[in-house]
Amino acid sequence: MRCKGLNIYSVQESLMEMFPVSVEMRSFIEDLPKAELHVHLEGTILPATVLKLAERNRMDYPFKTVEEIQEALDSRTTSLKSFLDLHYMFVSVIRTKADFYEVTYEFLRTCMNNSVVYVEIKFDPQFHTEQGISFDAMIKGIDEGKKDGLRDFGVDCNLIMCINRERTVESAWKMMEQAYPYRHLITGLGLDSYEKDNPPSKYTEVYEKAREQGYRVTAHCDVNQEDSVKHIWECIDLLKTDRIDHGINSIEDPELVAELIRRDITLTTCPTWRNPYPGPRDLEGIKKMYELGLKVTLNTDDPAEFTSEYMNRTLIGAVEGSGYTKEDLVQFMRNAFDGSWLPRDRKDMYIASLEEYALGHTG
Ligand code: HPA
Ligand code: ZN
Repeated sequence: MRCKGLNIYSVQESLMEMFPVSVEMRSFIEDLPKAELHVHLEGTILPATVLKLAERNRMDYPFKTVEEIQEALDSRTTSLKSFLDLHYMFVSVIRTKADFYEVTYEFLRTCMNNSVVYVEIKFDPQFHTEQGISFDAMIKGIDEGKKDGLRDFGVDCNLIMCINRERTVESAWKMMEQAYPYRHLITGLGLDSYEKDNPPSKYTEVYEKAREQGYRVTAHCDVNQEDSVKHIWECIDLLKTDRIDHGINSIEDPELVAELIRRDITLTTCPTWRNPYPGPRDLEGIKKMYELGLKVTLNTDDPAEFTSEYMNRTLIGAVEGSGYTKEDLVQFMRNAFDGSWLPRDRKDMYIASLEEYALGHTG
């Protein structure tokens, strides 16, 4: 059975009939040393934890049971807005430094269980500070969770604070100012949330200042948004990002593909899926990117909110739907370590251990 045509929102049906994953391939995936470059901290909280935090923070929360949350998750449409409207209901339960600590620490435990050895975690300061949480409590909670996660689980991570693009430019400047004393704790700046009517160009000056301050920069160009291709051009030309989050619509423009390759831009795609859809989105587009030679990586985005879950399940789904080989998976991970914001020697160290793993398991 072939997957549908190159409609980027196509979902592959009867996934299991396409490229069944052997026990050996499953175990190869599970133990493969991985890097993840596109995951939102607030999207890693499982429904049971969402309820626990809501109760601990004495919130009058609309969901009372895991089943109610699951029903809401299953009722979403594929639109970005439908996803985000519910996503922010989950984000709202994180209220204290202890919550940020716990969510970060627990996510790093999950990374270890998925053989993710390095992760770059995004978070949304504006949402939290506008709920009345101080930047200090938020960043210290995350940073302490990060340090303890490294000590206890051996998972290293760096942080990317994201501008919620639908908010005002003034609000983004305020976030930059609040972040300044903690500049050493934050590696990158990103751009996420509602893309419609909020092009990257809205933030050209903010990004210029961020680069001056030494942040690495990326931005979401979500799949099939209005002007997706134009937004990708704006990211590389105006914001001067060295990564694009998603960016799948780039394949519609051969000149853009050539430019992304020329500038060695890393694209962090997310072959996630959600009920009631049976399999990963965007697989055809992602495979085309890979075949065109773009530096593409595979990521989970908001793993607690998708059926694709965390890294192992996401990669198994990608293989089931696209027939990737072990060598392909190693290449995706090589791209991720190389496209990370680690210093060169650390990238090389991770890549060497990846190559060693590959040597023992392929050929
Ligand atoms: N796109 C935009 N904003 C987001 C996303 C995403 O995939 N996840 C969390 N915030
Ligand atoms: Zn994202």
